[in-house]
Amino acid sequence: MRKTLIKTGVLCSALLLSVNAAAEKKFEGLADTPPMGWNSWNTFDCDVDENMIREMADAMVESGMRDAGYEYINIDDCWHGERDENGEIQVSEEHFPSGMKALADYVHSKGLKLGIYSDAGNTTCAGRPGSRGHEYQDARTYAEWGIDYLKYDWCDTENINPIGAYTTMRDALHEAGRPIYYSICEWGDNQPWEWAQDIGHSWRATGDIYPCWDCSYNWGSWSSLGVLKILDIRKDLRLRQYAGPGHWNDYDMMEVGNGMTEAEDRSHFSLWAMLNSPLITGNDLRSMSDTTREILTNKEIIALNQDPKGVEAMRYIDAGDLNVFLKPLANDELALLFLNRGDDVLKYSHDWQFNIIKDDQTGLEINFNNERFTWKDLWKGGKGNTDKPLNLEIPPHDVVVLRLKPAN
Ligand code: GLA
Repeated sequence: MRKTLIKTGVLCSALLLSVNAAAEKKFEGLADTPPMGWNSWNTFDCDVDENMIREMADAMVESGMRDAGYEYINIDDCWHGERDENGEIQVSEEHFPSGMKALADYVHSKGLKLGIYSDAGNTTCAGRPGSRGHEYQDARTYAEWGIDYLKYDWCDTENINPIGAYTTMRDALHEAGRPIYYSICEWGDNQPWEWAQDIGHSWRATGDIYPCWDCSYNWGSWSSLGVLKILDIRKDLRLRQYAGPGHWNDYDMMEVGNGMTEAEDRSHFSLWAMLNSPLITGNDLRSMSDTTREILTNKEIIALNQDPKGVEAMRYIDAGDLNVFLKPLANDELALLFLNRGDDVLKYSHDWQFNIIKDDQTGLEINFNNERFTWKDLWKGGKGNTDKPLNLEIPPHDVVVLRLKPAN
């Protein structure tokens, strides 16, 4: 009798385990539109502490960014202390003396959410403890702390299977029970767009960004990339088809306000919005200029990124210095972005009648001979319609972004 009971018990636990394992999945509903927030890495590198993070949350509210839709305050690498004797991860006591839970409480009290960073390997990219072999333990800790977003990096992962590693952390987060946005960061090395849709809410599609227009910065074994470099890799990989509500291509944290010109910052921000990239800022929000703040809080540009249709823009015209991007929006509206990649002013006349729109991915077809649209310039506020050609003079490295609505 006792034997049968034990056997039944074992069978039940095995069944329960397999049911649990099968039930693990990513949290739904956390990324119907791309996430918006701030991350410490681009400006602060490893120099993170709780006072700075609190001040950044304050600045996100005071600058109007929270009201414009930004919600995550994300701590990148280097918040860590060591693991204790039970393998539990600790925060750096020197830099986070009040602990992560107190910091999460503070960020939540501002109506914002807190993000954190770890790595699938033994160590993070900056040499702090990674989560390998501690995934379930770490996920439970993050949930207890009140974390809302996890960026999960890919350093020190030789011979690890990326699908397995990212799935393990997804399952660990799910089991811990707190809905946490899961940001995959393996730089596009293993084509995550092909396998990560049901694992994470976004995946980095490219290497690290660098605050320049068209350069790359060589670090020895790898390079970080300027805005145009990222833009062009994305096109070569034909990434647009893989993104959609709940699973986005991530073109990295933005460099707006970090040293490029105003025109370049405006273009960078507009492009990231059009491409449905997460809008994660990377500048010091406490000291940004009015110009930077105005760029980051342009609600009409943000609305393109947050459009419920969730379709990443396509490069519709590719003609030397002129690139035109097209983004189908909800309610039969659309956005067009005219980019001047070059160093001289670009004069261009866009004749709607001759530029029929055809997007195979969404089935969108517009012949402006038969359909009229009105448009609004989302940076300068001008208005017009598609009856007459659009005559543009775009300054070097700048953009014109239009939102088109069916005329009636
Ligand atoms: C990698 C990531 C960066 C940043 C650093 C931290 O390079 O791609 O975004 O998180 O690690 O060490």
